[in-house]
Amino acid sequence: MTVSPKKTRVHGRGVVRGVVALACLALITVITATIGSTSARADDPPPTHRPLRDNQPPAAPEPTDPLVFSGYPDAPAFTVVPRKPALALYPCSQCHKDMPLNATPRKLDAAPHNASLPHGNGRFWCLDCHQGNNRDLLHSIGGKPIDFDASYQLCGQCHGARHRDWSYGGHGKRVAGWSGERQIYACTHCHDPHDPSLKARAPSPPPRVRAGLVPMPAGKDHRTMPWDRQQEHK
Ligand code: HEC
Ligand code: HEC
Ligand code: HEC
Ligand code: HEC
Repeated sequence: MTVSPKKTRVHGRGVVRGVVALACLALITVITATIGSTSARADDPPPTHRPLRDNQPPAAPEPTDPLVFSGYPDAPAFTVVPRKPALALYPCSQCHKDMPLNATPRKLDAAPHNASLPHGNGRFWCLDCHQGNNRDLLHSIGGKPIDFDASYQLCGQCHGARHRDWSYGGHGKRVAGWSGERQIYACTHCHDPHDPSLKARAPSPPPRVRAGLVPMPAGKDHRTMPWDRQQEHK
């Protein structure tokens, strides 16, 4: 069967007309629906907003065993250099076993101890860290005894980020070289727990000049820089 081009064109025009009619119908339906729904909404109560902030406390979690910090299992294994051999007044019980505890915060004038306690800007008293009934031990905030050789556990309670860095090797110092057993210094090797901020230190003197070399002229060091010399030649 052959289809004349004219017939095809007429047929095509018919399709276009049909599509336009359908589109108009659809448009009218949509407009009517929109108007209808708008007028229906006008009768509704004004919209209530969803609260931007929910101030309700979150529901309490199911009771479980309290979480206990057990170190950083994936940190490289280490041992800590003991501190007790370095403590002049240890064991404390040599004096304190016969002395009654005086828990009143005060200036310790009669003690052989350093009386000033700058750590925490006046917020600490000795017994926040030292046990009152057994002076040979420290204690955690929760009252758990801590040995003087494990005082990093005490520090770690409040300086968690430093303690984590220290455990992984990003803070503090390792004894000897990088290989072999990893032995690291305790916080108190470097920080006095009673006055922990590190004091400024004078820089070490420059190394001695090797035989056959002339020392740099004092105060004229910059002149020995190549670019300074170039300036002079201009
Ligand atoms: C040579 C003796 C001696 C040694 C050793 C000693 N203390 Fe004391 N300590 C004293 C005296 C004396 C006082 C009381 C000072 C006062 O009342 O002014 C005192 C007071 C204290 C206090 C204040 C609370 C209280 O009961 O009076 C604390 C805390 C304390 N000592 C901790 C220690 C710790 C920790 C050690 C060991 C690291 C230690 N002492 C070692 C003599 C000593
Ligand atoms: C922030 C916790 C903290 C507080 C507060 C604190 N100490 Fe200590 N203290 C320590 C730690 C930790 C050590 C162990 C130091 C070391 O390893 O060098 C220590 C060591 C000592 C020593 C032994 C020092 C030595 O060289 O023999 C004495 C004595 C002492 N403290 C007394 C006191 C007294 C007295 C007070 C209150 C005025 C006090 N401490 C407050 C944490 C604390
Ligand atoms: C109970 C909490 C607590 C414990 C335990 C504790 N610290 Fe602190 N530490 C503080 C507070 C609070 C400050 C003061 C921070 C401030 O004033 O901004 C401070 C300050 C410091 C600083 C900074 C000082 C500076 O110049 O800013 C160092 C270093 C430090 N502590 C080391 C230690 C070491 C080492 C130990 C363990 C012997 C320790 N801390 C134990 C609470 C604690
Ligand atoms: C090998 C020495 C060394 C050891 C060990 C060490 N620190 Fe430090 N720490 C430093 C030095 C050095 C600084 C930088 C001091 C500064 O910037 O003034 C510092 C800084 C800090 C500061 C910040 C002080 C500030 O002024 O902002 C804190 C807190 C601190 N250390 C806590 C710890 C704790 C907790 C440990 C043990 C877990 C520890 N450090 C072990 C040497 C050490």
